[in-house]
Amino acid sequence: MSQPSPIDPANSAASAPAGSVPADAESDPPFAPDLSIGSSSTTPYEDYVQADVLTHLQHPLSDDPGEMVFLVTTQVMELWFTVIVHEWRTAAEALRRDDLTVARDALRRSTYELEALNAAWKPLARLTPAQFNAYRSALGEGSGFQSAMYRRMEFLLGEKSASMLVPHRGAPRELAELEKALQEPSLWDEVLGLLARRGYPVPEAVLRRDPALRYEPDPGVEAVWAEIYDGPQESDLVRLGEALTDVAELVWRWRNDHLVATRRAMGAKMGTGGSAGVAWLEKRARKNVFPELWTARSHV
Ligand code: HEM
Repeated sequence: MSQPSPIDPANSAASAPAGSVPADAESDPPFAPDLSIGSSSTTPYEDYVQADVLTHLQHPLSDDPGEMVFLVTTQVMELWFTVIVHEWRTAAEALRRDDLTVARDALRRSTYELEALNAAWKPLARLTPAQFNAYRSALGEGSGFQSAMYRRMEFLLGEKSASMLVPHRGAPRELAELEKALQEPSLWDEVLGLLARRGYPVPEAVLRRDPALRYEPDPGVEAVWAEIYDGPQESDLVRLGEALTDVAELVWRWRNDHLVATRRAMGAKMGTGGSAGVAWLEKRARKNVFPELWTARSHV
């Protein structure tokens, strides 16, 4: 990084007489950041982070002071969804070229990010119905159900559904990204492809399946994972299985934290997105991510 300049007014201590107290103690070594960095309109930080854009995207719809944290938590979660999609796509592409190291690194990063995502429930986890009601009607028919990035996460996990594209038909970029994600093999499809190339008897019907359809658990895949888990525990495939199980568990935790927060905030009322609310979320939370990684454990 740049050295402080002796002619920079922010570093005027460099020219202060010995023994005198500088007017600005901040300019003593160790030097404070250079205040002259940045043009009249922006700074390198702003160019990179776009914090000015990010911190002016909050437009609450009610006068309730509690709405701000609801909105920001939702935005923060959207950002984590974006990072996690990036990691899982990196992992899927690496698996396709049999690069297990890159895949496992991306999966491991995603588990730390999932933990941070789940920790973001904290400010919303204990809303009372009256607190939520204070801004709920202002949300209209808006619902996290309409989150395109969450849907891309689900698609990467193999939970494909063409009907989930319908809410996005009016948003060309979201729709195009979702259509691509629907047609692409999921992370789980790429895992199974790798296992087949390693000589494991993954059923042909699974390998040739239409990737745009929801993945259905298969007994042949369960048997493959049981065999892997029966073998050496330090093998790279057991480690891959464990990294994927961590992901699955943390996604399940997000769904359950969401479910409990919803139950506390609105009981059995209908959702703003038109669903049965908690009853519908309960059904969603019962689904296992990477199902055979869980059921295979009964056969090891
Ligand atoms: C305490 C506050 C919250 C309540 C009461 C709540 C309630 C609900 C309800 C009832 C649904 C079902 C769909 C509907 O009819 O609307 C839903 C879905 C959903 N919500 Fe929330 N939600 C809350 C916070 C959040 C936050 C902060 C996010 C972050 C983005 C979020 C993301 C989602 C997602 C992704 C779905 C779809 C789940 C799926 O497809 O399985 N929710 N929410």
